[in-house]
Amino acid sequence: MVIMDKFIVRGGRALNGEISISGAKNVALKVMIASLLTDEELILHNIPQLRDVRFMLEVLKFLGVSSKQVGSTVILKNAHRQMSQIPLDVASSLRTSSMVLGPLLARYHTAVVPNPGGCRLGARPIDRHIDGLIGMGAQISYNSEDGYFYGNSDGLHGVDFTFVKNTHTGTETLLLAAVLARGTTILRNAAEEIEIDDLILLLNKMGGKICRKNNRVIEIEGVPKLHGAEFTVMSDRNEEVTFAIASALTNGSVIVKKSNRESLEPFLSTFKKCGGGAEEIDGTTTRYYKESALIATDVITLPHPGFMTDWQAPWAAFLTQASGVSTIHETIFESRFSYVHQLRKMGAQIDFYQPLVENPEAFYNFNWQDHQGKEQAIRIVGPTKLHNAVLHIDDLRAGATLVLAALAAEGESVITGIEQIDRGYEHIEVRLSKLGADIIRKGEELL
Ligand code: EPZ
Repeated sequence: MVIMDKFIVRGGRALNGEISISGAKNVALKVMIASLLTDEELILHNIPQLRDVRFMLEVLKFLGVSSKQVGSTVILKNAHRQMSQIPLDVASSLRTSSMVLGPLLARYHTAVVPNPGGCRLGARPIDRHIDGLIGMGAQISYNSEDGYFYGNSDGLHGVDFTFVKNTHTGTETLLLAAVLARGTTILRNAAEEIEIDDLILLLNKMGGKICRKNNRVIEIEGVPKLHGAEFTVMSDRNEEVTFAIASALTNGSVIVKKSNRESLEPFLSTFKKCGGGAEEIDGTTTRYYKESALIATDVITLPHPGFMTDWQAPWAAFLTQASGVSTIHETIFESRFSYVHQLRKMGAQIDFYQPLVENPEAFYNFNWQDHQGKEQAIRIVGPTKLHNAVLHIDDLRAGATLVLAALAAEGESVITGIEQIDRGYEHIEVRLSKLGADIIRKGEELL
């Protein structure tokens, strides 16, 4: 018998109270991979209790890394068994597992890693990661029969490498490789997402010599060995954006502790322009609320320091309550509107369109050949009163969007597929309930 969890949400209640932001998922997964780079203990604080974190611990266990969790602290110790293959079923549960390619090739000179493959956001290949590692002297082949990448090297050497386009985890994979490579690596057109700076902080604490220069250049001087370290992961800015929108959308007032406003500039300016309110209580505390009647805005998602693609789904739910016609143009992933069909079931007025783009290959962050002909933009007419519905979640951020919409809607909504939310939001229903939301998790027996 399979038990599938679902949320039952009774909407129409304002969120009020105080919550604390969890550690950033998109830092935690990478700093855990850094445990492969040393045989000494890595002590990581503020690690969120998420499905993806549990999956990553599973992947690292197959590679010889033992772990101990005490609350939000994870202690990792690499037994240096030089394991280098991850089982397909374990790795396929977590796209980020392919990033172990960097440390395994740098330190053990061999790696057998499943192709992370596409997901619900699109093809999501790792060609930019592979190109950089080959530039550092790795031989990497892909066997389409078994879906694995086979890599080996005589030890990696430094390289002057330019990314063809922005890649967040591609930049991180090469950092995790170059830190132990022979000689100096220069990464050009390197991503600037701030989660990368947290990884750089940790690697330098371990004895690495990494320096981010200006205009998207990172310089890494390879070192022969890295030692253990203790490190605290930054707050999750995607979670903070989700709670900020939840508060304004339900006409509430939510005080957020461990707030990281500096990392949210592109969001805060747009949020305030649209009618959202953000009051600075102190350096790490922000109160989010609705300042005035919401008005339509236009957003285009871009690599940092632009409006993040992870924010566009919750933002769409917010715009259903804004007066006028709003637009969202998604330029990072080729298929990141899975939630639109679900919001339409609640009464939202959203339609797709394709903006005129002169040179799509250069303009879009995904590889144009992966484009499946889908329109890359949506038009949202608001405000529309949302009503309850039975909803299904396809991906992590779409999941948060449907919860937000259900909180704002009249009536009782049922949301299935919530394991997707558990990947990226810690105990979301418990924390929302503490803010006054009427949301419960129910296990449903599927025959
Ligand atoms: C990271 O994904 C994040 N995931 C994403 O968050 C985030 O949306 C994204 O960066 C943008 O900031 C983690 O950090 C675990 P990319 P990543 O490489 O690194 C294409 C979430 O919800 N591309 O910057 O995979 C790719 O398909 C997740 O927490 C190639 O074609 O993003 C995408 O269309 C979702 N070849 C675009 O580029 C490559 O080799 C940007 O990808 C690499 C990327």
